[in-house]
Amino acid sequence: MFDPHFNKIIEQLVDNFLGSGIYDAAMRDRKTTIGGSTTRDRHDPYCQDAGPNGDFTIPQRWDCYTSQEHARWDFLFNRQVELLGSRAASAFLEGVDLLRLADPGIPDFDRLSDVLEARTGWRIVAVPGLIPEHAFFDHLAHRRFPAGDFIRSAGQLDYLQEPDVFHDVFGHVPMLANPVFADYMQAYGQGGLRAIGLNAIDRLSRLYWYTVEFGLVREAGGHRIFGAGIVSSYGETLFAFDNPSPNRIGFDMARVMRTRYRIDDYQPTYFVVDSFEDMLRQTQDTDFAPLYEGLSNMQDIAADATIYKDRVITHGTHSHVQKAAV
Ligand SMILES: [Fe+2]
Repeated sequence: MFDPHFNKIIEQLVDNFLGSGIYDAAMRDRKTTIGGSTTRDRHDPYCQDAGPNGDFTIPQRWDCYTSQEHARWDFLFNRQVELLGSRAASAFLEGVDLLRLADPGIPDFDRLSDVLEARTGWRIVAVPGLIPEHAFFDHLAHRRFPAGDFIRSAGQLDYLQEPDVFHDVFGHVPMLANPVFADYMQAYGQGGLRAIGLNAIDRLSRLYWYTVEFGLVREAGGHRIFGAGIVSSYGETLFAFDNPSPNRIGFDMARVMRTRYRIDDYQPTYFVVDSFEDMLRQTQDTDFAPLYEGLSNMQDIAADATIYKDRVITHGTHSHVQKAAV
């Protein structure tokens, strides 16, 4: 998901977040507006933007997408599925099949939600952009996944200014069809609501970053990818799975919460969960208030570092960073 321009915007979002309390420091998941070159043609008044509801959702208005926008989804879907066949976690691929994401065109959130809800109780809701942190966590805590409804422009297929419907739906939603991961996401939302009161959003954001967005899982005698930021990115799929440059380290909750991350490049470190059951169990078993308190006295760990306690699976060569620095 590396994209210098996109990440520049994210830096601004982070600044906004830190300054105003607007959510999305780590999630980089919401767009700031629905306008601009990435949005659909809305000449029809019916398709014009309406203000959000009280919970910051908007109608998707699936019938307003153009044939070109549907074709853009199809191109991205077919390219990514071909790449992911031997690299993505089986749970992700099962979700793609179960939700019939191979059906042509941008998914209709209502139809998709009906299938997903029957499986795990989750629904997809459209949102117009950044939403307050409380609203985001509240949606997750109630098994609603907020997704942007616009799709990137034809000139930006690999140059994503803002996370779009392909990232949000193709990247995130298949894992929500997995019952264990579905519970994890709800637990994350509930933890987020608690973290607001504990002033610990930055710690919890790192957990989201290194699992939901950039997580790997042990599988088939090696590792497979499941993070939405990877599976929705052609370049980062190859980098995270195949490249010798990054570290790959066994997942540990406290370790992750101490670890910085890159917003301007591929990740120098990926964390590998033993299983989704273990990831959920660690989340449910952790008493977060004392964990946050303990971490407040500990130094952050650099994004490319390993420490003596790590279960290092792959010592990265960091050749990518060295090349990038030249
Ligand atoms: Fe995301």
